Amino acid sequence: MRTTYCGLVSEALMDQTVTLMGWAHRRRDHGGVIFIDLRDREGLVQIVCDPDRADMFKIAEGVRNEFCLKMVGKVRARPSGTENANLTSGKVEILCHELEVLNPSVTPPFQLDDDNLSETTRLTHRVLDLRRPVMQKNMILRYRVAMEVRKFLDANGFIDIETPMLTKSTPEGARDYLVPSRVNEGQFFALPQSPQLFKQLLMVAGFDRYYQITKCFRDEDLRADRQPEFTQIDIETSFLTEEEIRAMFEGMIRKVFKSAIDVDLPEYPVMKYAEAMHRFGSDKPDLRVKLEFTELTDVMKDVDFKVFSTPATTKGGRVAALRVPGGGDMSRGEIDGYTEFVKIYGAKGLAWIKVNDVTKGREGLQSPIVKNLHDAAIAEILKRTEAANGDLIFFGADKEKVVNDAIGALRIKVGHSEFGKTHGLFEDRWAPLWVVDFPMFEHDDEGGRWNAVHHPFTAPKDGHEDYMDSDPGKCIAKAYDMVLNGWELGGGSVRIHRAEVQSKVFSALKIGPEEAQLKFGFLLDALQYGAPPHGGLAFGLDRLVTLMTKAESIRDVIAFPKTQRAQDLLTHAPSPVDEKQLRELHIRLRNPQAATNA
Ligand code: AMO
Ligand code: AMP
Repeated sequence: MRTTYCGLVSEALMDQTVTLMGWAHRRRDHGGVIFIDLRDREGLVQIVCDPDRADMFKIAEGVRNEFCLKMVGKVRARPSGTENANLTSGKVEILCHELEVLNPSVTPPFQLDDDNLSETTRLTHRVLDLRRPVMQKNMILRYRVAMEVRKFLDANGFIDIETPMLTKSTPEGARDYLVPSRVNEGQFFALPQSPQLFKQLLMVAGFDRYYQITKCFRDEDLRADRQPEFTQIDIETSFLTEEEIRAMFEGMIRKVFKSAIDVDLPEYPVMKYAEAMHRFGSDKPDLRVKLEFTELTDVMKDVDFKVFSTPATTKGGRVAALRVPGGGDMSRGEIDGYTEFVKIYGAKGLAWIKVNDVTKGREGLQSPIVKNLHDAAIAEILKRTEAANGDLIFFGADKEKVVNDAIGALRIKVGHSEFGKTHGLFEDRWAPLWVVDFPMFEHDDEGGRWNAVHHPFTAPKDGHEDYMDSDPGKCIAKAYDMVLNGWELGGGSVRIHRAEVQSKVFSALKIGPEEAQLKFGFLLDALQYGAPPHGGLAFGLDRLVTLMTKAESIRDVIAFPKTQRAQDLLTHAPSPVDEKQLRELHIRLRNPQAATNA
């Protein structure tokens, strides 16, 4: 049969006869000679069909794009000047002796080398889209990454144990996908948002080191880095501390980067959540962007400008600046564009100061707001931001969350812009870090209650147990996230393994004993039987591979992804089902018309 892959033919096979199978990527008729670029998953090779073999040539004349072909021929050097340095096979070509059409193809709906295809076209014709060399590379890399992960975990004594897909609601905080039970009328399974509770049960069961590369399901609003079903590298261990867990899995990710794409990741800074929010307004800071917040809340308490003084004197308010070196070059149009941009995050405006001449104080500044600020405040702004001539300073003033979200997003937007790249505000490198010491709880102002930041099984820091009653906002968790280039790659925590601590968390969350028993009784029961201290984390495999390939969306590393509207354009799922199926499931639709109209 085949002697090698098209993409692996090289000078090493010079003068040898090879048999290849693949697809006609392109066919060029050079009046007398026909060139076919034959493609398989490893790449392309150029086939030369001369008319002196009349039978073969006749077949070559009939070949069109995406025909599946078998070819026997001899490897020879390309004429000098026609080499292609981008291909493994770029120095050689194959003189075709025999050609066979294994299967013709109808005309594809698009050219496979068209880089400007719409996402709808690509997902509707996903099979052809997946034939494109870049997608083949992505999927093969995804496989390699998963293999390297398995190798690492296996070498470290981790055991792959499967957990159920038809299960009970898990506490990751998104909406569940539900599956109706035919046998148990009116009852539903939930697809797992993660194997969280099962992996903890496996620790209690004594398996000690567990992992699984598994699908998780979350019905949430989708973005470039989110899918309704996605894959986690899910891990749990017994008897390791937070630091030991972090060290081990930093090692894993470093090893995977080295083996899969030959990248040496730098040391991971370890940054407390509070510091990340303070400096970058984000718990997943992109450290490639060289811009930081400047705190001004204390400075703005006594200014006349209400836009600043109100949040500065209100509990939970924040005033912060973002100095953009060289930003004085920005046009009013650009600044207006950014003002619109921050509104997406709830900001009511975007005050700014252009620094023309820092030595002249107020006179050296251009801004719609300096008239509202007293001299001492202006001096303090310039000092704290370390402003220099030619800089632009942006300001956010609002509830802390709004300022962090809006100015944090602005920081990324400016850093990643053409402006940022040409002004040295963006460093093209791998920028990993750990974010640690997350708060246990966040306050839901509307609901007037505390919610778990991670999930309710996360352990508090030693000595913080009592804050759960007295001051939940002060209670820090043994939780950690791995961040890479501004993406949350993974996260986890040390878990609660003692029933009395777990009860305290539930009472802080206002989950009564009955509700706790109903929802998580199986875990609470298990914790009573000598549960070991344990903890773990989960990485998003899709995100990991997306970062490695530098793809724009995780959809580019998933063979059959869903659209932003959670639809599969290839198989047309979800889709209506017939009345008989519904009846078996004891379900009646509230609005049958909606399903057919969608
Ligand atoms: P968490 O909810 O942080 O933790 O998820 C872990 C990692 O999974 C990835 N991820 C996603 N990837 C694609 N699409 C999504 N919708 C999506 N949601 C999450 C992210 C994230 O860092 N059980 C805990 C882990 C633990 O505590 O051990 C959990 O699921 O990369
Ligand atoms: P105004 O007083 O509304 O004319 O606003 C003066 C300047 O402050 C304008 O540049 C606004 O964009 C900006 N601004 C208004 N509200 C905020 C806010 N909450 N945070 C930062 N800047 C603001």
